[in-house]
Order: sequence, then structure tokens, then C-alpha cells
Amino acid sequence: RAEVQAKSLALSEVMTKAGEYYKQQLRSAPPAIAYLKKRGLTGEIAARFGLGFAPDAWDGLRSVFADYQAPELVEAGLVIDKSDEEGGGRKRYDRFRDRVMFPIRNTKGQIIGFGGRIMEQGEPKYLNSPETPLFQKGYELYGLFEARQAIRDAGYVLVTEGYMDVVALAQMGFPQAVATLGTACTPTHVQKLLRQTDHVVFSFDGDTAGRRAARRALDACLPHANDDKFIKFLFLPAEHDPDSFIREFGADAFEQQVHEAMPLSQFFMREMIADHDLNSAEGRAKTQFDAKPLLQTMQPSGLRLQMVRNLAQVTQTTPAEIEALFELSQPVAR
Ligand code: CTP
Ligand code: MN
Ligand code: MN
Ligand code: MN
Ligand code: MN
Repeated sequence: RAEVQAKSLALSEVMTKAGEYYKQQLRSAPPAIAYLKKRGLTGEIAARFGLGFAPDAWDGLRSVFADYQAPELVEAGLVIDKSDEEGGGRKRYDRFRDRVMFPIRNTKGQIIGFGGRIMEQGEPKYLNSPETPLFQKGYELYGLFEARQAIRDAGYVLVTEGYMDVVALAQMGFPQAVATLGTACTPTHVQKLLRQTDHVVFSFDGDTAGRRAARRALDACLPHANDDKFIKFLFLPAEHDPDSFIREFGADAFEQQVHEAMPLSQFFMREMIADHDLNSAEGRAKTQFDAKPLLQTMQPSGLRLQMVRNLAQVTQTTPAEIEALFELSQPVAR
């Protein structure tokens, strides 16, 4: 146990050093500075998020670490060991090269991972740290450390998909934003968010992927939703994400979107009736069938009761009939 602790301490030192290096490299990288400016970012906001640059070199980190061959560099996900098959030549190289770097911090402010954005067209657009003992993707939220006080001040958190969404929103007056980093919003994310605030506003991209992400976030929220939580979903026009929307239409327009965001119960009903013909018995039955496993994940609450009542209304049944239907298919205990 002591060994594990010593190891992860070393890893976090490795990440800190790398973050300092990338930050310092940004100062002498005019193309990277130009890229950030083109994206509308000020130097102040870049500094607040500790943005950096990984130079276009195979072993840039060699100048940072006394021992470039140290196993901790692989464990930290900063370098990649090439198998020896091809023989000779370079065996170890920097994972992040020629990319703008976004450090990902844990809630203590320690760097636990990085996301690196390519500046031109190319794949992958973002390269992220692999899962390491410090970094588990289903658990971490980008920007949470930076946003914590702002979430308290604003009284809510904005949950977005991407690095740029968080940074752009912060610059435009919404520092209470975090990102799930392209992965699905997990129940663990939701728990983490609800430890910070009881008011969560999801603001994913307007594209198909973003809409799917909102649906998965809904599913992840239901086990934690109750009468003192306020969870809402903001749907942007299809071609926009929070970054592009706020830059095109401004902070007031985004604020308006936040005000008009759809409450969880309403989004839930919209999802349940989607593609079903409520004028047919089959369509109404299918709606109940879709809603059942989701409502069964909810704790008893006034909110759940309201959602069951809404479902009863659109399916021409009663709440009692719905609960009876759910009882019949309750998994048998043990
Ligand atoms: N993502 C990733 N790898 C990719 C693409 C996306 O890890 N190849 C993650 C990143 O965290 C990204 C998020 O998913 O921020 C959302 O993806 P997308 O909407 O495609 O990117 P944007 O954040 O909008 O990036 P940008 O504005 O820089 O184009
Ligand atoms: Mn997207
Ligand atoms: Mn974007
Ligand atoms: Mn996006
Ligand atoms: Mn359906």
C-alpha cells in the first residue's frame, strides 16, 4: 500500500513536470499561439487553464527528465515504447507531438492527464492520455478543478463535451463549465457533479453524437435524480457546440439557452414517446415498455411520481396501472 502511494506520487510529479514543459514550449511556438488566438482565446485564459504546446519532436521530453528511459514515463502515458521487432533505431518516443496541450487536473489541482489538439486537419483531432493509475476517464471531468468556485457562485454546473467548450465558455463569462471529454457521461460523473451542486445543465453538441450523449446522460442521471436536484438539458442548433455558439451569438444568447433548457422530466417524456404512435395501443404499450427499465432505476420521489403520472397520461392509463405493470416484471429477488 505504501508502495502504491509512493508510485502515484512519482507519477503526479512526472505529470507536473511535463505540464510545465508544455506550458513553457507554448511561449516559443508562434504557430500554436496563433492557433489559440484564431480560436478566440486570450493569453489570460490560456494561462488560467495551463494550456501548452508539445513541440514537433520525437523526444522533446528528453530535455525534461534526467532519465528518459524511466518506466514512470510509460506509466504516465507520456511516452510510447515501440516494440523491438523492427530492430534498432528509436525505441521510445513522446506520445504528444506538435499539438496544443490541455492539462486535465484532479480536484486537488494535480495534473493527471493531457489532451492534445492537432492544429491543422488530421487524425486524431484530439489525442488523450491513456488510462493510468492517476487517470480514469469515466471518472474525471475536465475543468472541474478550475470551475469549482464558479459552480458555487453560479449555483449550477454546465456539462459540455469538449476542452474548447470549457475554455471558451470560461472566457465568455461562464466559468462554471466542465467537460466529459467525448466519453459518455457515466453515473460516476453524475455523482461527482451532484457533490458540487444540485443544479446541473447538460450542454452537448447539437450534432447526432451530442444528442446521443444527452440521452446517455439522462440514463445516467435517473438513479440520482430526486426532488432536490434540478437537472436540465440544453439543445443547441445542429451545427453548433457551446464554443461555436457563444462565439457566434454571444453570452446573452447562451444565457437565454440556459434559461430555456429542458427539465429532465420533459426530456425523458420526449425520448419515451419518440418514434411511437400514441394513437395506437401498440405505440402506447411500447412507450411504457421503453420507460419501464428507466423508471425502475429511480429512487422513490415526488419527481418519479410526476414522471409516472405524465407517462400514464400519454399512454391512457393510470399511475397505479403503470406501477402494477412494473411490479409484474420486477426482477425476482435473489
Ligand atoms: N475527442 C477525443 N478524440 C477525438 C475527438 C474528440 O478525445 N478524436 C473528445 C475531446 O475531448 C473533444 C470532445 O471529444 O473535446 C468533443 O469532440 P468534438 O465535438 O469533435 O470536438 P470539439 O471539442 O468541438 O473540438 P474543436 O472545437 O477543437 O474542434
Ligand atoms: Mn461533436
Ligand atoms: Mn468545437
Ligand atoms: Mn464539439
Ligand atoms: Mn422507443
